[in-house]
Amino acid sequence: MDIDMKNDVGSVLLSEAQINGIVEKLAKRITEDYKNSPNLILLGILKGSVIFFSDLMRKIDIPCQMEFMRVSSYSGTKTTGNINILLDLNRVDIGNCDVLIIEDIIDSGRTLTYLKKYIAGKGARSVRTCTLLDKPSRREVTFVPDYVGAEIPDEFVVGYGLDYNDYYRNLPYIGVLKREIYEK
Ligand code: IMP
Ligand code: MG
Repeated sequence: MDIDMKNDVGSVLLSEAQINGIVEKLAKRITEDYKNSPNLILLGILKGSVIFFSDLMRKIDIPCQMEFMRVSSYSGTKTTGNINILLDLNRVDIGNCDVLIIEDIIDSGRTLTYLKKYIAGKGARSVRTCTLLDKPSRREVTFVPDYVGAEIPDEFVVGYGLDYNDYYRNLPYIGVLKREIYEK
């Protein structure tokens, strides 16, 4: 694979400064909304949310814990529709916990629909969802996240944790991947 990270991105959709502002606003809302929660768990969905997760968590100003799950539904730039759990959440005290699922981006809505039900099924006190990016025009199922950083158009984006075939995650901004990169 011949990767030229900066050149493969056609345009920058969100700069580092813009992302920082978005994350700050989300963290303020979450801090306010959960200030009376005794057991807040931020549940990061690996791997795409890792960078967003670590910035967001450091800006949340109330006690909270971190957990992670890994699921996969994507292959290249296409969703396959079925969700596989590759790393499960393993906690016995979930019944006392308010779980906030942290995701990088919502596309069809299938991943978070599945995960929200899954965590609720484990008996969590509450389950909400927070996504950095949302592509509402791509929904295949009705799903409304509780916290959204930014709505974006139907483009395949990379950077700040988001990948194409596991690359480009380390770009510090979010950019639109040139079509020629994934259509060749
Ligand atoms: P959904 O189940 O279709 O909502 O898929 C959400 C998942 O698809 C995200 O967690 C990402 O891993 C992946 N995804 C969707 N759109 C993009 C994109 O534009 N860039 C990178 N990954 C994406
Ligand atoms: Mg993901």
